[in-house]
Amino acid sequence: MIEIAPSILSADFTRLGDQIAAAEAGGAAYIHVDVMDGHFVPNITIGPFIVEAVRRATNLPIDAHLMIENPDNFIGAFAKAGANLISIHPETSYHVHRTLSYIRQAGCQAGLVLNPATPLTYVEETVDELDFVLLMSVNPGFGGQKFIASSLDKLRRLRALLDQAGPRGRRVRIEIDGGIVPENIAEVAAAGAEIFVAGSSVFGKPDPAEAVRELLRRGARQETLAV
Ligand code: DX5
Ligand code: ZN
Repeated sequence: MIEIAPSILSADFTRLGDQIAAAEAGGAAYIHVDVMDGHFVPNITIGPFIVEAVRRATNLPIDAHLMIENPDNFIGAFAKAGANLISIHPETSYHVHRTLSYIRQAGCQAGLVLNPATPLTYVEETVDELDFVLLMSVNPGFGGQKFIASSLDKLRRLRALLDQAGPRGRRVRIEIDGGIVPENIAEVAAAGAEIFVAGSSVFGKPDPAEAVRELLRRGARQETLAV
Protein backbone atom coordinates (compact mmCIF):
# COMPACT_ATOMS: atom_id res chain seq x y z
CA MET A 1 0.00 0.00 0.00
CA ILE A 2 1.32 3.43 -0.84
CA GLU A 3 0.70 6.66 1.05
CA ILE A 4 0.90 10.29 -0.05
CA ALA A 5 2.40 13.08 2.05
CA PRO A 6 1.57 16.39 0.32
CA SER A 7 4.17 19.07 1.01
CA ILE A 8 2.70 22.45 1.89
CA LEU A 9 5.84 24.10 0.50
CA SER A 10 3.92 24.40 -2.79
CA ALA A 11 0.60 25.40 -1.18
CA ASP A 12 -1.12 28.77 -1.40
CA PHE A 13 -0.48 30.14 2.11
CA THR A 14 -3.27 32.69 1.83
CA ARG A 15 -5.66 29.72 2.13
CA LEU A 16 -3.58 27.05 3.82
CA GLY A 17 -6.49 25.48 5.74
CA ASP A 18 -8.51 24.94 2.52
CA GLN A 19 -5.50 23.50 0.74
CA ILE A 20 -4.85 21.02 3.54
CA ALA A 21 -8.54 20.06 3.66
CA ALA A 22 -8.45 19.39 -0.10
CA ALA A 23 -5.37 17.17 0.21
CA GLU A 24 -7.05 15.30 3.05
CA ALA A 25 -10.24 14.84 1.04
CA GLY A 26 -8.18 13.30 -1.76
CA GLY A 27 -6.80 10.66 0.61
CA ALA A 28 -3.51 12.13 1.85
CA ALA A 29 -2.02 10.13 4.74
CA TYR A 30 0.26 12.83 6.18
CA ILE A 31 0.95 16.54 5.80
CA HIS A 32 4.62 17.10 5.00
CA VAL A 33 6.15 20.31 6.35
CA ASP A 34 9.50 21.47 4.96
CA VAL A 35 11.46 23.38 7.58
CA MET A 36 14.41 25.33 6.13
CA ASP A 37 16.76 27.65 7.99
CA GLY A 38 18.75 29.41 5.25
CA HIS A 39 21.96 27.75 6.51
CA PHE A 40 21.74 24.04 5.85
CA VAL A 41 19.74 24.76 2.69
CA PRO A 42 19.61 27.95 0.61
CA ASN A 43 16.01 28.81 1.50
CA ILE A 44 14.01 29.87 4.57
CA THR A 45 10.51 28.55 5.18
CA ILE A 46 8.49 27.37 8.13
CA GLY A 47 8.87 27.28 11.92
CA PRO A 48 6.90 25.75 14.82
CA PHE A 49 4.37 28.59 14.60
CA ILE A 50 3.09 27.37 11.21
CA VAL A 51 3.16 23.74 12.37
CA GLU A 52 0.84 24.82 15.17
CA ALA A 53 -1.55 26.31 12.58
CA VAL A 54 -1.38 23.14 10.47
CA ARG A 55 -2.20 21.17 13.62
CA ARG A 56 -5.40 23.14 14.02
CA ALA A 57 -6.32 22.55 10.35
CA THR A 58 -6.08 18.74 10.24
CA ASN A 59 -6.06 15.52 12.24
CA LEU A 60 -3.61 13.90 9.83
CA PRO A 61 -0.14 13.16 11.21
CA ILE A 62 2.27 16.03 10.57
CA ASP A 63 5.56 14.98 9.00
CA ALA A 64 8.17 17.65 9.85
CA HIS A 65 11.23 17.47 7.60
CA LEU A 66 13.93 19.49 9.36
CA MET A 67 16.52 21.00 7.01
CA ILE A 68 18.14 23.01 9.79
CA GLU A 69 21.39 23.23 11.68
CA ASN A 70 21.34 22.31 15.40
CA PRO A 71 18.14 20.25 15.15
CA ASP A 72 18.48 19.19 18.83
CA ASN A 73 17.55 22.74 19.84
CA PHE A 74 14.22 22.62 18.01
CA ILE A 75 12.89 19.05 18.28
CA GLY A 76 10.95 19.88 21.45
CA ALA A 77 9.35 22.95 19.88
CA PHE A 78 8.19 21.06 16.78
CA ALA A 79 6.84 18.18 18.89
CA LYS A 80 4.98 20.66 21.09
CA ALA A 81 3.59 22.42 18.02
CA GLY A 82 2.01 19.14 16.93
CA ALA A 83 4.50 17.28 14.71
CA ASN A 84 4.07 13.49 14.80
CA LEU A 85 7.02 12.49 12.62
CA ILE A 86 10.31 14.38 12.70
CA SER A 87 13.21 13.72 10.37
CA ILE A 88 16.73 15.13 10.39
CA HIS A 89 19.71 15.17 8.02
CA PRO A 90 22.83 13.46 9.44
CA GLU A 91 25.02 16.37 8.24
CA THR A 92 23.27 18.67 10.73
CA SER A 93 24.09 16.74 13.92
CA TYR A 94 27.39 15.78 15.58
CA HIS A 95 25.63 12.88 17.29
CA VAL A 96 23.04 11.52 14.89
CA HIS A 97 22.13 8.53 17.06
CA ARG A 98 21.47 10.82 20.03
CA THR A 99 19.40 13.27 17.97
CA LEU A 100 17.21 10.43 16.73
CA SER A 101 16.66 9.27 20.30
CA TYR A 102 15.64 12.83 21.29
CA ILE A 103 12.92 12.69 18.61
CA ARG A 104 11.48 9.53 20.11
CA GLN A 105 11.79 10.90 23.64
CA ALA A 106 9.68 13.83 22.44
CA GLY A 107 6.96 11.30 21.53
CA CYS A 108 7.46 11.43 17.75
CA GLN A 109 8.48 8.92 15.11
CA ALA A 110 12.11 9.40 14.11
CA GLY A 111 13.37 9.62 10.55
CA LEU A 112 16.78 10.01 8.95
CA VAL A 113 16.99 11.97 5.68
CA LEU A 114 19.55 11.03 3.06
CA ASN A 115 20.56 13.59 0.43
CA PRO A 116 21.44 12.26 -3.02
CA ALA A 117 25.15 12.10 -2.07
CA THR A 118 24.70 10.89 1.52
CA PRO A 119 25.74 7.23 1.95
CA LEU A 120 23.30 4.54 3.04
CA THR A 121 25.70 3.39 5.76
CA TYR A 122 24.14 5.92 8.15
CA VAL A 123 21.02 3.73 8.08
CA GLU A 124 22.95 0.57 8.98
CA GLU A 125 24.39 2.30 12.05
CA THR A 126 21.12 3.79 13.30
CA VAL A 127 18.48 1.23 12.29
CA ASP A 128 17.35 0.61 15.89
CA GLU A 129 16.58 4.30 16.36
CA LEU A 130 14.63 4.67 13.11
CA ASP A 131 10.94 4.59 12.32
CA PHE A 132 11.49 5.72 8.73
CA VAL A 133 14.11 6.78 6.23
CA LEU A 134 13.41 9.80 4.02
CA LEU A 135 15.31 9.41 0.79
CA MET A 136 15.85 12.67 -1.11
CA SER A 137 15.41 12.30 -4.85
CA VAL A 138 16.38 15.97 -5.37
CA ASN A 139 18.83 18.19 -3.53
CA PRO A 140 16.87 19.81 -0.70
CA GLY A 141 15.90 23.47 -0.71
CA PHE A 142 13.18 23.93 -3.29
CA GLY A 143 10.00 22.38 -4.60
CA GLY A 144 9.39 21.65 -8.26
CA GLN A 145 12.75 20.06 -9.11
CA LYS A 146 13.24 17.08 -11.38
CA PHE A 147 13.56 13.55 -9.91
CA ILE A 148 17.23 12.48 -9.96
CA ALA A 149 17.24 9.21 -11.92
CA SER A 150 19.98 7.51 -9.87
CA SER A 151 17.66 7.69 -6.81
CA LEU A 152 15.86 4.59 -8.11
CA ASP A 153 18.96 2.42 -7.73
CA LYS A 154 19.68 3.93 -4.31
CA LEU A 155 16.10 3.21 -3.28
CA ARG A 156 16.46 -0.46 -4.28
CA ARG A 157 19.71 -0.69 -2.30
CA LEU A 158 18.04 0.91 0.72
CA ARG A 159 15.15 -1.58 0.50
CA ALA A 160 17.62 -4.48 0.34
CA LEU A 161 19.64 -3.11 3.26
CA LEU A 162 16.54 -2.81 5.45
CA ASP A 163 15.35 -6.29 4.44
CA GLN A 164 18.76 -7.73 5.32
CA ALA A 165 18.55 -6.13 8.75
CA GLY A 166 15.70 -8.59 9.43
CA PRO A 167 12.79 -7.65 11.68
CA ARG A 168 14.63 -4.52 12.89
CA GLY A 169 14.89 -3.21 9.34
CA ARG A 170 11.59 -4.38 7.96
CA ARG A 171 9.54 -2.18 10.24
CA VAL A 172 11.42 0.92 9.02
CA ARG A 173 9.33 2.61 6.33
CA ILE A 174 10.80 4.31 3.28
CA GLU A 175 9.59 7.76 2.31
CA ILE A 176 10.78 9.48 -0.86
CA ASP A 177 10.95 13.22 -1.41
CA GLY A 178 11.41 15.26 -4.58
CA GLY A 179 10.15 15.23 -8.12
CA ILE A 180 7.34 12.71 -7.60
CA VAL A 181 4.79 13.03 -10.41
CA PRO A 182 2.02 10.76 -11.76
CA GLU A 183 4.39 9.64 -14.54
CA ASN A 184 7.04 8.17 -12.21
CA ILE A 185 5.20 7.13 -9.03
CA ALA A 186 4.53 3.52 -10.09
CA GLU A 187 8.18 2.92 -10.93
CA VAL A 188 9.34 4.50 -7.66
CA ALA A 189 6.82 2.41 -5.71
CA ALA A 190 8.06 -0.75 -7.42
CA ALA A 191 11.60 0.14 -6.30
CA GLY A 192 10.51 0.08 -2.65
CA ALA A 193 9.14 3.46 -1.53
CA GLU A 194 5.99 3.42 0.61
CA ILE A 195 5.37 7.08 1.45
CA PHE A 196 5.53 9.69 -1.32
CA VAL A 197 6.09 13.37 -0.63
CA ALA A 198 4.45 15.43 -3.34
CA GLY A 199 4.56 19.23 -3.40
CA SER A 200 4.09 20.72 -6.84
CA SER A 201 2.27 17.64 -8.15
CA VAL A 202 -0.45 18.22 -5.53
CA PHE A 203 -0.59 21.93 -4.65
CA GLY A 204 0.64 23.08 -8.04
CA LYS A 205 -2.52 21.58 -9.54
CA PRO A 206 -5.90 23.36 -9.70
CA ASP A 207 -7.58 20.48 -7.81
CA PRO A 208 -5.27 19.13 -5.05
CA ALA A 209 -7.81 16.46 -3.98
CA GLU A 210 -7.94 15.01 -7.49
CA ALA A 211 -4.14 15.29 -7.74
CA VAL A 212 -3.73 13.10 -4.61
CA ARG A 213 -6.26 10.60 -6.00
CA GLU A 214 -4.35 10.43 -9.28
CA LEU A 215 -1.04 9.76 -7.50
CA LEU A 216 -2.69 7.00 -5.45
CA ARG A 217 -4.22 5.44 -8.58
CA ARG A 218 -1.03 5.57 -10.61
CA GLY A 219 1.13 4.38 -7.69
CA ALA A 220 -1.10 1.37 -7.16
CA ARG A 221 0.02 0.06 -10.57
CA GLN A 222 3.37 -0.86 -9.04
CA GLU A 223 2.34 -4.53 -8.81
CA THR A 224 2.20 -4.69 -12.60
CA LEU A 225 5.69 -3.20 -12.85
CA ALA A 226 7.21 -5.33 -10.09
CA VAL A 227 6.47 -8.69 -11.77
C1 DX5 B 1 12.65 19.90 -0.98
C2 DX5 B 1 11.56 19.43 -0.05
C3 DX5 B 1 10.44 18.73 -0.70
C4 DX5 B 1 9.65 19.53 -1.69
C5 DX5 B 1 9.14 18.56 -2.71
O1 DX5 B 1 13.71 20.35 -0.22
O2 DX5 B 1 12.11 18.54 0.92
O3 DX5 B 1 9.57 18.18 0.30
O4 DX5 B 1 8.58 20.23 -1.14
O5 DX5 B 1 8.57 19.27 -3.74
P1 DX5 B 1 8.24 18.59 -5.14
O6 DX5 B 1 7.28 17.46 -4.86
O7 DX5 B 1 7.62 19.70 -5.91
O8 DX5 B 1 9.53 18.08 -5.74
ZN1 ZN C 1 10.61 17.54 2.31
